[in-house]
Amino acid sequence: MTDVSIIGLGRVGLPLALSFADRGLSVLGVDKDPERLAAVRAGTMPFKETGTQELLERVAATGRLELSDRVEDAAHAQDIVITLGTPSFSHIEIDLRDIRAVLDALLPVLRPGHALVLRSTVGPGTTDFVAGYLAKHRGFAVGQDVFVAHAPERIAEGRFLEEIGTLPCIVGGVGEGSGERVGRLFARFGAPIVQTTPVQAELAKIWTNILRYATFALPNLLMMDCEQHGANVFEVIDLINRDYPRGGIALPGMTAGTCLRKDFAFSEERSNAPGMLLAVSRVNESVPRFLVDGIKRRVGPLAERKVAVLGLSFKRDSDDERDSLSPKLVRLLERELADVAVHDPHVHTPNQPLDDALRGADVVVIATNHTEFSRPELLRRVAELATRDCLVVDPWNALGAAQVFTYTAELALLAGARA
Ligand SMILES: NC(=O)c1ccc[n+]([C@@H]2O[C@H](COP(=O)([O-])OP(=O)(O)OC[C@H]3O[C@@H](n4cnc5c(N)ncnc54)[C@H](O)[C@@H]3O)[C@@H](O)[C@H]2O)c1
Repeated sequence: MTDVSIIGLGRVGLPLALSFADRGLSVLGVDKDPERLAAVRAGTMPFKETGTQELLERVAATGRLELSDRVEDAAHAQDIVITLGTPSFSHIEIDLRDIRAVLDALLPVLRPGHALVLRSTVGPGTTDFVAGYLAKHRGFAVGQDVFVAHAPERIAEGRFLEEIGTLPCIVGGVGEGSGERVGRLFARFGAPIVQTTPVQAELAKIWTNILRYATFALPNLLMMDCEQHGANVFEVIDLINRDYPRGGIALPGMTAGTCLRKDFAFSEERSNAPGMLLAVSRVNESVPRFLVDGIKRRVGPLAERKVAVLGLSFKRDSDDERDSLSPKLVRLLERELADVAVHDPHVHTPNQPLDDALRGADVVVIATNHTEFSRPELLRRVAELATRDCLVVDPWNALGAAQVFTYTAELALLAGARA
């Protein structure tokens, strides 16, 4: 007997499946990607997520995780959790194709007693749509015969095992019994269950991400304003925040990633302030262009100049390259006819060793604030291998020099002053 099925063994689904199995439930994991299933069967995590490799090995030894590529098999469990991707189309519309495909596959096999949980991030109204779909095509009374709820995932990548047991779990159930039923399932992790309506759960999730996306757009816009006025963004941020009880502006960076870059579009579908969040997105999306323009202003034309881009993933110490702004930065540099070398010690995409990327570089851009790029050792390698007057671009302040654009000689002086 299977207790719970998880459809979509991605960065959200696989850690969740392992965590349920680790709590003693028998779990069926469903995914259509044969490589993903083969990796899990072979006992290898297909991506980095702190602590999950050991967890996978522990769970594999118990035999409590089974795998399948058939969505219909998910109906062997009473509780079915959907953790599929929900991208957005480029024209302000959620792309529900994967969810629709899975619902269509489940329709013939759903029975009274089943609970269907939308764990994926969805736009307002989607959970009610799913419930309506089941009612329309199977005549179920949702909340009585079958149960449907949204239980959004709000865990930060890299912190799954730490946060699954602590972050309040929002549950928005349709009809009478859905919230309670799905709350029971997630209560196994020990975190508080917060019951609400489906649309409030949907809004809470996407606005959690909108808040972060807008929070980072402000310092990114400030960084651009500072360049225009010849000011130092890190000094201005320090002036804003220092000993001021109502401060708290964040630091600039290459803000993107698979959730932040798209989730605001789900709200924009029916916005009361059309364009406001699009402007937020435009600010974050133009950081690579801002950096390229700033480099050109200092270095001149980039044709045949060597630029080393350090970091491909969207986030510090992560191997997740989805929706990172680094490839955009590389494309923009290539459009300037620069010779671009890329290094990232975390990702799977082939890239150059650090020393090869730095050797003879006229410009070094720290595109991801990986731990490796925050060490003085990096500065030493740049000084040894790059050109003498190499421009270092560090919007994250990974090197701690508090300069978006600076030269190696200046950096060495600053490092010396700090030592
Ligand atoms: N990655 C995160 O950190 C994060 C955090 C919070 C919320 N979310 C949200 O959670 C959801 C899932 O995100 P993710 O990053 O895990 O996505 P993902 O792309 O890593 O995983 C989705 C998985 O579903 C599988 N799949 C797609 N169609 C299928 C089908 N028809 N049948 C079976 N399997 C199928 C894919 O092969 C893939 O393995 C999204 O809505 C996302 O916005 C993600």
